[in-house]
Amino acid sequence: MYALSEKGERIRAMFGSIAPRYDLLNRLLSLGIDRRWRRFAVKKIGLNGSGRVLDVATGTGDVALEIASQTPASVSIVGIDFTPEMIELGSVKVKDSRHSDRITLQVAPCEEIPFDDGSFDAATISFGIRNVVDRIKGLAEMHRVLKNDGKIVILEFSTPTLPVFKDLYHFYFLKVLPKIGGAFSRFSAYQYLPDSVLEFPSREVFKGMMTQVGFKDVRHFDLTGGIATVYVGTK
Ligand SMILES: C[S@@+](CC[C@H](N)C(=O)[O-])C[C@H]1O[C@@H](n2cnc3c(N)ncnc32)[C@H](O)[C@@H]1O
Repeated sequence: MYALSEKGERIRAMFGSIAPRYDLLNRLLSLGIDRRWRRFAVKKIGLNGSGRVLDVATGTGDVALEIASQTPASVSIVGIDFTPEMIELGSVKVKDSRHSDRITLQVAPCEEIPFDDGSFDAATISFGIRNVVDRIKGLAEMHRVLKNDGKIVILEFSTPTLPVFKDLYHFYFLKVLPKIGGAFSRFSAYQYLPDSVLEFPSREVFKGMMTQVGFKDVRHFDLTGGIATVYVGTK
């Protein structure tokens, strides 16, 4: 069993406490754009036949559900997340959806994925890798469970590149967002969000980490002026 660091335990407790308001705040704080970003990321999997997809740090299961709606019924999806409260809420959403027979969710950390080598055709992680304390270990685990030629798709917040837009965005992200988040949920969690985004490596450094664990053809696509970035790679 993987032993989380103190920081990992803190992050898990924070996600446990915001879980009940997580979906509502996602829609509110991103003005609904988060759905479009997830849709774009899932398209990058490009799985048309049968297969098995792993969604890491699945949270309340939005990406797992998006994968199910974009792929044929012969594709099955497994979602893992280390926060039991997220998995509980996600399981209710999955059960109430028309994809309940294709999606299973379970509690597990990214750093020790409880599946055999080469058991998935694709892996996704959306707004999750930023929170994984040992990112190299997490990326290496996703690489391990993929089949050869399997695809990884990572969606994560980024820092916009255009100067004026960057300033406006920073004002919203650093000053406005923590206040709205704090009004509906735990303030510290919505202060953690901008802090963790600013601390996340640059696009080039992060692609270097993906290459370091063995991914090939690593590319990125900026979304909405670079607020979010989709990284793709192949095993
Ligand atoms: C911002 S949420 C994203 C949830 C979902 N993927 C989405 O797009 O809405 C981050 C999720 O990552 C999970 N998480 C953070 N670190 C993790 C780790 N080391 N292993 C597994 N899950 C992790 C948290 O529990 C949380 O549910």
